[in-house]
Amino acid sequence: MLHNKRILLIVAGGIAAVKVPDLIRRLRERGASVRCILTKGGAQFVTPLSLAALSGQHVYQDLFSLTDESEMGHIRLSREADIILVAPATADMIAKMSHGIADDLATTALLATDKPVMIAPSMNVMMWTHPAVQVNLETLKARGVSVFGPGAGDLACGEVGDGRMAEVMDLVSALGRHFQKQRGDGALARFRIVVTSGPTIEPIDPVRYIANRSSGKQGHAIAAALADMGAQVTLVSGPTQEADPDGITVVKVETAAQMLKAVRAALPCDIAVCAAAVADWHVADVSKIKLKKSTAPPRINLAPNPDILATLAQPGKQRPSLVIGFAAETSDVIEKAKIKRAEKNCDWIVANDVSPGSGTFGSENNTVHVITAEGVQNWPTMTKREVAEKLADLVATFAAKKL
Ligand code: PMT
Repeated sequence: MLHNKRILLIVAGGIAAVKVPDLIRRLRERGASVRCILTKGGAQFVTPLSLAALSGQHVYQDLFSLTDESEMGHIRLSREADIILVAPATADMIAKMSHGIADDLATTALLATDKPVMIAPSMNVMMWTHPAVQVNLETLKARGVSVFGPGAGDLACGEVGDGRMAEVMDLVSALGRHFQKQRGDGALARFRIVVTSGPTIEPIDPVRYIANRSSGKQGHAIAAALADMGAQVTLVSGPTQEADPDGITVVKVETAAQMLKAVRAALPCDIAVCAAAVADWHVADVSKIKLKKSTAPPRINLAPNPDILATLAQPGKQRPSLVIGFAAETSDVIEKAKIKRAEKNCDWIVANDVSPGSGTFGSENNTVHVITAEGVQNWPTMTKREVAEKLADLVATFAAKKL
C-alpha cells in the first residue's frame, strides 16, 4: 500500500521525535519516499543530518532559506506529497494548525497544502486532556485531519496515561490503511475474518485467576495486517496491554467460554485465525468469596475448556473456508504441530517454540513454521509484525486462488 507513496513528514518538538528515524526506515522499507520538515523544536530531539541520511533527501527547516526556497518552494513542498504526516504532533503544533497560524515552514506548508493530513499527537497526559487541546483537535477533525493515537502508557515525563505517540508500526499501518481506503481494493477487501489473540484468564475466586504468558502481540499484529489488506476483521482478545488496532472490531473477553461465545457471535466468516493462548482448563468450582489463607492450600478442581479452534474447524455450514491455528510447543515443535493440525482439523497451523529460552511470549520477535497440506514452510526469525504481514500475504494468495 505504501509503495511509491510520497510522504511529507513534519517533525515537531516532542520527545517522541526520537521514534522518527525508525518510522522513516520502516516507511522506506515499504517503498515509500519520505521528505522531512524539521521544526526548531524537533531539531532539539533529532538532527537534520540523521533524518537526511535515513530519508535520502534534503531536510527542510527554514521558511526564509534562500537555497531551500529556490530549490523547492514551501508551496511545492506541501503539494508534492500524497499525504502529510505530523509526527509527533505537539500541543503547540495542534493549536497552530487549528488556528491557521503560519509562522514557520511546517505550519506554512500545512496551511498551503491540498493533500490529506494525518497527525500523531504526543504530549503529557494533562496537556492531552486539557479542554484547549481537545477543542483544537475537534476543529482539526471537523476539517478532515486524521488523528492517530495517542496511546496510553508510561510517558517520558514520568507520568502515566494517554499521550504516548502511536507506535511506529501502528503509524505505518495507519498510513497503509489510508492509501488502501483511497484505492478501495485491498487484496482481502471482500473477506470477513475472525482473529483470536492474547491469553484467557480463568478465575479461582473474585481476586485470583489462572493465566498464561501471552501478550497478544502476535495475534493483534495479525489482525492489523489482515485489516491493512482490506479485510473486515473481528478481533476477539483476552486481557492484553496491546492497543486496539485501528479500523477493527475488537471484542474483549476474559475466559475461554467468553471467547468461544464471542467467536460464535462473529460468525459467519470466511477465514479464522486462532492465535490466542486459550487456557485448556477452568476452575470447576469458582469460589464466590475470596478463599481464606488457611494452613492447607485449597484444592483447585480443574475442568476442560471448550476448544475454540477445533469447534470452528468442525465440518459444517458455518465452518470458515480457511481455518488457521497456532501451535505453541516447547519440544518437537513441528512434529507436535502436525499432530495438532490433524486433531483440530484446521487447514494451516503456525508452529512456534515457546520454551523459556525462545523469548516468544511477550517479545517483539517470533520464529514460525507454517504447516499446510502442501508441507512445512520454515520462516526466519522476524518481528511479529513481519510474521503477521507474511501470513496475511499467504492468506491473500490463498483467497485469490481458492475463495
Ligand atoms: O501473545 P504473544 O506474547 O505475542 O505470543 C504469541 C503466542 C505464542 C501466544 C502465539 O504465537 C501462539 O502460539 N498462540 C497459540 C497459543 C496456544 O494456546 O497454543 P496451543 O498449542 O496450546 O493451542 C493450539 C491452538 O488451539 C491454538 O490456535 C489455540 O488458539 C487453540 N486453542 C487451544 C485451546 C483451547 N481451549 N482453544 C483453542 O482454540
